Amino acid sequence: MPLPKDFIWGVAGASYQVEGAWNEDGKGPSIWDTYTHWRNSPVHNHETGDVACDHYHRYKEDVALLKEMGVKAYRFSISWTRILPDGIGSVNPKGIEFYSSLVDELIKNGIEPMVTIYHWDLPQSIFDRGGWLNPEIIGWFENYTKIVVEALSDRVKYWFTINEPQIFIGLGCYLGVMAPFKKYTDGEIFRMSKNVLLAHGTAVRTIRKYSKQEAKISYAPTGPSFIPDNDSPEAIEEARAKTFAFDKDGYVLSNSWWSDPIFLRKFPDGAKEFFGPDFSDFTEEEWDIVQSPLDFYGMNIYAAMRDLSKLSAAEGNGELTGEPLTALKWTITPEVLYWSAKFMHERYKVPVMITENGCACTDSVHLDGKVHDPQRIDFLKRYIREFYKAGEDGIPLIGYIHWSFMDNFEWAEGYDPRFGLVYINYQTQKRTLKDSAYWYKEVIETNGESLWK
Ligand code: NOJ
Repeated sequence: MPLPKDFIWGVAGASYQVEGAWNEDGKGPSIWDTYTHWRNSPVHNHETGDVACDHYHRYKEDVALLKEMGVKAYRFSISWTRILPDGIGSVNPKGIEFYSSLVDELIKNGIEPMVTIYHWDLPQSIFDRGGWLNPEIIGWFENYTKIVVEALSDRVKYWFTINEPQIFIGLGCYLGVMAPFKKYTDGEIFRMSKNVLLAHGTAVRTIRKYSKQEAKISYAPTGPSFIPDNDSPEAIEEARAKTFAFDKDGYVLSNSWWSDPIFLRKFPDGAKEFFGPDFSDFTEEEWDIVQSPLDFYGMNIYAAMRDLSKLSAAEGNGELTGEPLTALKWTITPEVLYWSAKFMHERYKVPVMITENGCACTDSVHLDGKVHDPQRIDFLKRYIREFYKAGEDGIPLIGYIHWSFMDNFEWAEGYDPRFGLVYINYQTQKRTLKDSAYWYKEVIETNGESLWK
């Protein structure tokens, strides 16, 4: 049986992308609120997450949709500034109340809540104090995590500390194409990375210490994933080496930059030489924190990379001429789920959960009132089959979480890319289950058997 009986089929979303209610009930501003409101905002069409999917007000309706889809888990993130409007200081009871009610509603409907503590919406006031560059953020993040864990861990068992440091540091602070849209030097990125790693490890310890039940913890990284050109051992080795390469221009976007410290207690080979005088190692006590044991490997994964030199350009991945692409022009490369699951498990030695996978399509409501999205169904069938095959090869797999539950605010790309299994009409907030939602329901009901139909 490649997938265990208790395999977790879920869907995901994130606070800023779906909630809206950006300044309601005492919520403070995050950097995404600031930069989307900026008159020179680089976000597509000057769109903002002010209303987004209005999930803050419609969460009951949304949980009913999750139930209709038959999902077993919902991965969502907490907005730091809903809980602590200034990032530090006094707690906003309304913020706690919202997430607590959401968790209750999920549990009432038999859906496992999975919490991501940080999905990029850094409190503006913490950014003003230096953000990830200020080592005090480790303690601030610890305090925030403790508050959330004390409030929710009687009902929440699954936790993700941070989502895609590759992106919030790499695209946010290195390439400057996501909030805070700034470019820092390599020396600064090195210091930020250490603070992120320590904040992550400290949060893991905090969850273990304060959780009211045995917690399952990971983080949700992404990174370049390579597929071997053929089945020869040399080609497999080459793909593996590139998947974990320390590329001097794209190191901050890589797998090994973040996961080697966390799982292997080391910086990737080449890092020390590259940073020169900017390099400073962790102390043994700090390494103990960074390497706090995780229960599984979370993987956000969408497309294979074909050319490592494209990594730092943030434009394409070296696609072949005329290769099939999604609406966001990401390559359709299903085998990446097989190879990455295998490579990550072999290197980091823990079971694997896909924490995000999916595609943007040009969806619309058809004349019959339905949303027909055969491209997404075909995409998912191909990708999940490959993941299933990894299970057949003995890789321990514990879950597949689809991105996304519903269409939402795709960061700097705004609302055009539609990743959801549920279609959102942003003018009316009407939700419509796409064909893929019904297709996914059957996959879940048959624990993956229907993928082979
Ligand atoms: C990565 C991020 O975690 C999520 O926020 C984003 O919307 C999807 N992938 C799609 O780009």
